[in-house]
Amino acid sequence: MSPKLRHLMSLADLTAPEINRLVSHAYALKNRSKPWLTPADFERQKNKNLRLPSQSLFAKTIALLFSKRSTRTRIAAETSAELLGGRALFLGQDDIQLGVNESPRDTAQVISSMCQGIFARVGEHSEVEELAKYSEVPVLNALSSLWHPTQILADLLTLHEHAESFNSTQLKSEASKRLVKLPKLRPLTIAYVGDSANVLHDMLVTYPRLGHSLRVASPPQYRAPTEVWDRVKELGCEEKIIWVDDPKEAVHKANVVVTDTWISMGQEAEKEERLRAFHGYQVNETLCREGGADPNWKFLHCLPRKPHEVDDEVFYGARSLVFPEAENRKWTIMAAFDLLFGKWQLGIPEGTE
Ligand code: CP
Ligand code: NVA
Repeated sequence: MSPKLRHLMSLADLTAPEINRLVSHAYALKNRSKPWLTPADFERQKNKNLRLPSQSLFAKTIALLFSKRSTRTRIAAETSAELLGGRALFLGQDDIQLGVNESPRDTAQVISSMCQGIFARVGEHSEVEELAKYSEVPVLNALSSLWHPTQILADLLTLHEHAESFNSTQLKSEASKRLVKLPKLRPLTIAYVGDSANVLHDMLVTYPRLGHSLRVASPPQYRAPTEVWDRVKELGCEEKIIWVDDPKEAVHKANVVVTDTWISMGQEAEKEERLRAFHGYQVNETLCREGGADPNWKFLHCLPRKPHEVDDEVFYGARSLVFPEAENRKWTIMAAFDLLFGKWQLGIPEGTE
């Protein structure tokens, strides 16, 4: 199959097998290379399955075009590029001409003449679309006003890794195969309580196609915009999504409860209005008990987190998967960099590597 230029703006751009393949690839990268990087790597010579990933970014530079803050996404990108043998070039909003003296079109043309991939965190989604339109190298969306695709790849990896806590009959004898084979996940009920923003939008176009149901509670004025809902319908995801106003109704029978900030980057001026609108939407034990969540429910949050959207008991408690989820930003971004920027093989389905 000859390589073809692809961009990734949202997981809506990928088929379900392509999404599965990225998550499986991330799992294999993590389990083969993470132990190699720890002090336990003294042992590595004894286990031939442990190794550095293929050096698909050797002599390549990935431009990190970030006009907004980032902890996880930036660190994941920089450390991933290094492990794949390449370099990440951080270009913050005060470093380059974009947005002040230069257009996204001209910027894309120039960067793509010198770098082999663009990982872009911008404001309006149209900006990253514009970069992709004029770039000669793949562009990966690192978060825009509408979508956050790499976050949901990390969430999926985290859920698969914790499959045993949802699958009461998980076969323990499969443990030895798990080093490279992603544990299977049964269909889950996933509740989202909070603002309909970029993180939720990628959940809406992804989870239903992988067999999971979504129950969403957002105040009516903060629901997904038409352009997102059009993609949801186009992908046939609509029938597995239920929208409600009441957070308790959303968490009913939920295996997983997810939230995000109520005030996304760029919405700081709306803070007071949003705090009023989301009153009662905090994720906590009382909400989930009264709403009838599955007794074994788990919690996800993309971070950064404020206590008003989830209390400390849940956030730091045994249900919380937020820190494994944060670490998984690295392995999933590495998988995306490897397949999108390194090998140009994003379109090859799972199992055909
Ligand atoms: N979840 C996430 O995207 O975090 P950062 O904004 O810190 O990159
Ligand atoms: N919705 C949040 C996600 C942060 C990772 C934002 O856009 O700020």
